Formats: sequence, C-alpha cells, structure tokens
Amino acid sequence: MAVTEVFACAKLNLSLDVLDKRPDGYHEMKMVMQTVTLRDKLTLETGTGAPLRMQSNLGFLPTDEHNLAAAAALAFCRETGADPGGLSIRLEKQIPVCAGMAGGSADAAAVLRGLNEALGLQVSQQRLEEIGALVGSDVPYCVGGGTALAEGRGEILTPLPPLPHCQVVLCKPAFSVSTPELFKTLDGCRIRRRPDTAGLLAALEAGDLPGVARRMYNVFEDALPQRRYQEICAIKTALIQHGALGASMSGTGSTVFGLFDRQAAAEEAFAALKPLYRETFLVETTGRLMKKKV
Ligand code: C5P
Repeated sequence: MAVTEVFACAKLNLSLDVLDKRPDGYHEMKMVMQTVTLRDKLTLETGTGAPLRMQSNLGFLPTDEHNLAAAAALAFCRETGADPGGLSIRLEKQIPVCAGMAGGSADAAAVLRGLNEALGLQVSQQRLEEIGALVGSDVPYCVGGGTALAEGRGEILTPLPPLPHCQVVLCKPAFSVSTPELFKTLDGCRIRRRPDTAGLLAALEAGDLPGVARRMYNVFEDALPQRRYQEICAIKTALIQHGALGASMSGTGSTVFGLFDRQAAAEEAFAALKPLYRETFLVETTGRLMKKKV
C-alpha cells in the first residue's frame, strides 16, 4: 500500500459574468478565477485491495460517487485505464461546503493530480482537465489553479498574469445558495450590471492590484433574494470599511471576500467579522498548482 497526500485549494471569482443559456441547459460563462491558501487535505491510499472507500471529517458529506472526489477517482480510472489496486480517500475539509469556493471541485481536481502522481503516470494537465470536465464545470480550472480566465461552461481556460500577492478575508454567511436555482433565477431577471472583464484583464496585465479589486463584480449578486443581497452588501461594506481594496461575492455564494494589500488591515477586518460569522478566514492568494502546462 502507498499513501499520497494532496491539497485542494479554494477558488474565488475575481469576476463572474453569465453570457447565455445554451441548448444543453448550461450557461456560457466568463469568469476570472483565483486560488487562495484555504485548502482541504486529501490522503489517498492505493493498493488497498478493496473497492473505493471514502471517509471525511464532515459526517454529512456523501462518501459515494455523489462526492466529487470519489467521482473523480472513478472517472480517472475509467478514462486512463489505470488500476490503483484498490483505493481509499480520506478527506479533511476546511473549505466551507456550498459556499461558492469550488470546494468539492477542488477536492476532485486534487484526486486527479494525486492519482496521477501516486500511480507514476504522466497524464498531461490538459487531459486531467478533460477528465475533470466530466466530473463538474469548475473541476478543470481547479486542476491547475492560479489566475485564469474560464469561459464556455468553465472548462475553456486561459492562464492570466498572476494577481499580485495579497491577503484575502473570506466570510461565509450562514445561508447557502443552490447553484442550479440561482442560475434559474438569473435566467428570469434582467442583469442590471456586468463586470468590466476587459478592464480587469488589463489591470492584471499591468500588475495593478487596486485596479483589479475596484473592478471585481459577480452578476449572481443581482439574482439573490433581497434579504440575502442585503447581507452580502453589508459584509462587502464592512470589508471595505476595514481597508479592503475591493470586495465581491464568489461563485453562486454565499462567500464574500475582500482583497487587502496591508496585513494589518486584513487582520482588523478578520477580527471584526469573525465574531459575527463563524466561517470567516484570513488567507492569501496562491499561484499555479501544477508546475507547468503540459
Ligand atoms: O457542472 P456542474 O455539475 O458543476 O453544474 C452544476 C449546475 O450548475 C448545473 O446542473 C447547471 O444547472 C448549473 N451550471 C450552468 N452553467 C454552467 C455551470 C453550471 O447552468 N456553466
């Protein structure tokens, strides 16, 4: 038996735009993605001689193929023909669940990277992303992470100049949002404001952190019920008042985050929000998770 530890980093949406509903029911997206140091840990044990087994520190999570990590393991073996000789996955979650940070997708991507390493295979990043797309829309991005533009269903990825390193305060309100429901609501409402994605990309190109932070916006904020929207706005305002350069909601929420270029300000914002919201974290941005795009 062999043991491999892999980490799954959370993602944030520096911007999120929904362009069109497609005939297959999915939506055309344009999103600028960023990984942060908040992460889950997965321990993969190969050669157990037993069928896939999974356990996690959160009792309410599924441990069958309804968990994206298990689904990714099955997809990896099916698509590559690899046989780990039995596999067990132990998942220690830190990333809040149903929070808009692609926690489940990050776990799935970590399993793809981890099995590739554990079995000594040289499956390319592009192929891992293709297998990831069979598991979920955010999984391809989570394979490589870093700063990237995600288009199509989320699987068309363009690496971007890295966001200048900064502190991030994340805050997840107690409510969760159903992703399919929020897409449906958005289909039925007029999008009043869209992110300036081109301006954000230009700011990234220039290494202009305040310029990026100023342009962060997520169209899903508009589709939230009024009471939820107000809570999101209150957290954004608190982050800005404590010195964030900008604040936005991530994915379909409900996590709100602020970017900080001063550690002291980030600590102050964290201290102010933590007593109000149990799931508040002070983390940092990270670069790419795979060394090079091969
Ligand atoms: O691909 P994934 O399983 O993560 O998507 C979950 C749900 O989110 C889909 O069933 C769909 O309702 C919605 N979705 C979408 N357009 C996307 C991604 C997800 O409509 N680009």
